[in-house]
Amino acid sequence: MREINRYLVTAALPYANGPLHIGHLAGAYLSADIYSRYLRLTGQDVAFICGSDEHGAAITIKALQENKEPQEIVDTYHALFQDTFQKMGISFDKYHRTSAELHHQTSQDFFRELHKRGEFIEKESEQYYDPIAKQFLADRYIKGTCPKCSHDSAYGDQCEKCGSALSPTELINPESTLSEGKPELRTTTHWFLPLDKYEGWLNEWINKGTVDGEQLHFPEEWKNHVLGQCRSWLDNGLHPRAMTRDLSWGVDVPQEIPGAEGKKLYVWLDAPIGYISATKEWAAENDKNWEDYWKSEDSALIHFIGKDNIVFHCLIFPSILKAHEGYVLPYNVPANQFMNLEGDKISTSRNWAIWVHEYLEDMPDKQDELRYALAKNMPELKDSEFTWKGFQDANNNELVNNLANFINRVVVLTNKYYDGAVPDFDEDTSFIGPEGEESLPAFHDSELVRLNDNLLDYRQQMCKFDFRGGLKTLMLISSQGNQILQANEPWKLIKEDEEAVKPIMNLMLQYLKVLAVGMRPFLPFSADKMMTLLNLPAITEEGELNAIGESLCEGELIVPVAHKIGTPSHLFSRIDDEVIKAQVEKLEATKVASTPSATPAAPLKSTVQFDDFMKMDLRAATIIEAKKVKKADKLLELTLDVGFEKRTVVSGIAQHFSPEEALGQQVTLLANLAPRKIRGVESQGMILMAENGDGSLKFIQPTEGTENGSSIS
Ligand code: MF3
Ligand code: ZN
Repeated sequence: MREINRYLVTAALPYANGPLHIGHLAGAYLSADIYSRYLRLTGQDVAFICGSDEHGAAITIKALQENKEPQEIVDTYHALFQDTFQKMGISFDKYHRTSAELHHQTSQDFFRELHKRGEFIEKESEQYYDPIAKQFLADRYIKGTCPKCSHDSAYGDQCEKCGSALSPTELINPESTLSEGKPELRTTTHWFLPLDKYEGWLNEWINKGTVDGEQLHFPEEWKNHVLGQCRSWLDNGLHPRAMTRDLSWGVDVPQEIPGAEGKKLYVWLDAPIGYISATKEWAAENDKNWEDYWKSEDSALIHFIGKDNIVFHCLIFPSILKAHEGYVLPYNVPANQFMNLEGDKISTSRNWAIWVHEYLEDMPDKQDELRYALAKNMPELKDSEFTWKGFQDANNNELVNNLANFINRVVVLTNKYYDGAVPDFDEDTSFIGPEGEESLPAFHDSELVRLNDNLLDYRQQMCKFDFRGGLKTLMLISSQGNQILQANEPWKLIKEDEEAVKPIMNLMLQYLKVLAVGMRPFLPFSADKMMTLLNLPAITEEGELNAIGESLCEGELIVPVAHKIGTPSHLFSRIDDEVIKAQVEKLEATKVASTPSATPAAPLKSTVQFDDFMKMDLRAATIIEAKKVKKADKLLELTLDVGFEKRTVVSGIAQHFSPEEALGQQVTLLANLAPRKIRGVESQGMILMAENGDGSLKFIQPTEGTENGSSIS
């Protein structure tokens, strides 16, 4: 087996056609960041590479929708991505973009080489053409019924409902998304990669990890769901796949190749080569050799992706790399499954998502809190679910009550008893260990061993991409620390036996450093704060984890006696119900605002009794003031004249009515609804709205001449 001396970690290049949501973070970027930081902490040589995917139909469709140039679209989102990633602490060594000149060159060179080697087959094929829009249609421009699950708006390349990869000709009742007309098949010539011919070696490589008998990786280290998807593709048989497209936006097929005119590289050929061009750029800027990372046997290429990208990273890109020769193949592709949101699939088109840049606006100093909640719930092996309640609980019960509480107690007590200096102690003094009074007494040295054992568990989990496990182990270390404090009650013991407190507090300070370094991949901002609390040098991610492991192993202290720590300050704070409620309402409001047009009338709710209906006090009222609610795109704050009094009502209609449009409208008010605070404003009632089939909203208005305050029944 080859020796690994270097890691090239990649995270899927996001399409620059819309903002990032938490599913993106949980899928590829956070896990890649956690892993890269972990590797650096263990002293590994790492290049962590990503960039914006700026080609393909995803971009041109967005440009068309917004009536903008593709370049404008990609510039906007590239800038937003850079900002979002940086604020979330994603520690890319290089964040590049595929519209860069260097990338165009690199991917064209790749194409040239494959062409020269005769790897492509040039083939006439039938492709859908839109006679109204007068152009060939990229897969994404064709919609139709999925042959697998009958979903009625599957795309030409994939059904988003059942996840099947499709080709446009498989769609039932295909329709052009450009003109909505029926596309027709026309012939065009393209260069195909004969994936069917690679089935032999791909099978060997996926199932045994070998190529021509040489062990390149161990499939047992790959996730089952990744292997499963690969095997199912292979079992179904691979087909030649076109590597070029008839498009106006993308990387040109090298023009000297006959027939290249008007042809662009297929985005799934150009984008993964983006990993290579980004590495080149990074290497040039940092005095490194990019080929060490891509062409050297002792380099491990690790792709972090979401499960919808598995076939491209496990079968197609490896085929491209191997056809070119000289490149390493992926060592592991630890793809994640999907993260759902509050019981529903995250969906950009339905706006059912938590957009990361909006989260950062709403909670600008809570990056680690989000990272924690996502990591704890990462869809590593199966789909998982994010809920705001879960986010709040993770913060309040785990970060605040366990971690921050432990750290704070240790820092406070050390300052109080020893003026902040790490105490020296008698090795033979025993105390109560984390298992409690029933178990044997603990000694400082054996507890250091236990700490090191925990750290080894953590390292094993991290190596295996079991980040949830690694995080759990760290939280276990923190709760064991809390248990030791709780069982020994140093705040009481200090009055009876000062000497007995010293080994306990000394040990607790060793725990704190382990937590600071160990937490660095998950909570980089807080890890920095922990090091400040300990008055230790900032973590640079240059082998710190090895250093503490080696010391602990030898029974040496990692925070030395007499070292003076810093003064207490809080790491995490509770998140109130109000904040969570506002976020839930913001999310629910999008549901109201984005109900798709063709939905049939909502099914009838269950029967209510006459008396129940009569409990509701409905009144006519007129909107006399209307303004937007800050930081909530969906909400208007309305002042209503109810005849006998004025009322404030916060209503989720801002995406349908501007304040000007709402002003002066007479509406129906549910006047005896229990008041509740929305975004800090007390809402005293609710106005009734009707929702049309196309999702538009109408006020329920009393007929002319109705006086404000009159009751409706
Ligand atoms: N843009 C693609 C997506 O968001 C991912 C591209 S990954 C790369 O699904 F390998 F092609 F770069
Ligand atoms: Zn389907």
